[in-house]
Amino acid sequence: MTVIRKILPTELPLYRAHLLRLDPADRYARFAGTVSDEVLERHCAAIDWTRTTLIGAFLNGELRAALELCGDRVLWPNEAEFGISVETELQGRGVGSTLIRRALTVARNRSIGKVHMLCLAENIRMRALARRFGGRMEMEYGEITARFDLPTPNQFSFALEALEDGSGAFNSLLASFSSGQSDLAAA
Ligand SMILES: CC(C)(COP(=O)(O)OP(=O)(O)OC[C@H]1O[C@@H](n2cnc3c(N)ncnc32)[C@H](O)[C@@H]1OP(=O)(O)O)[C@@H](O)C(=O)NCCC(=O)NCCS
Repeated sequence: MTVIRKILPTELPLYRAHLLRLDPADRYARFAGTVSDEVLERHCAAIDWTRTTLIGAFLNGELRAALELCGDRVLWPNEAEFGISVETELQGRGVGSTLIRRALTVARNRSIGKVHMLCLAENIRMRALARRFGGRMEMEYGEITARFDLPTPNQFSFALEALEDGSGAFNSLLASFSSGQSDLAAA
């Protein structure tokens, strides 16, 4: 069962393990260049949870895909950016689309008007996804920047996020029961 929900700060080790598991081509595509294990470790250690939302896809309790949405209210008011990674076995099954759709709702509900995403020009899948969500793309030095303009939040976007947070919690419980780890229910 695939569970899509926000990642908690206490689950940072799962995110680190997911990034370290990416195959070389996906790791290169995610960070638009070569990055070592040490750089990934530092990247995770430096996450500022006051301005970052992580949304993940869990398969059998393991984090197999994640989207990192970051903003900076002081330096970059009303704007944010995201990076996304889906492990090879889960690719092409709509997980990337779901993560992006949810991230754009989260950003919209924080009154963020513009979200940026950077990928390599040869990243056909990411470009297809950006197009699907109405991203305006510009190419510079072999990289594509996609910009998503978001409407102001309304009661439906707030309700959608709340509903998806609720179903994420519920599905996590179901998944933990079906795998015999019922300790989540007591938490
Ligand atoms: C890019 C990535 C996030 C996509 O995730 P995903 O779960 O495979 O995405 P989805 O299944 O939701 O959608 C893939 C899209 O690419 C399209 N696609 C797949 N292969 C394609 C190809 N060879 N040519 C053209 N389009 C292709 C699919 O049709 C789909 O578009 P659609 O929904 O409009 O039909 C994933 O491949 C990944 O993690 N790559 C490595 C990291 C990365 O590139 N990150 C982006 C930079 S931050």
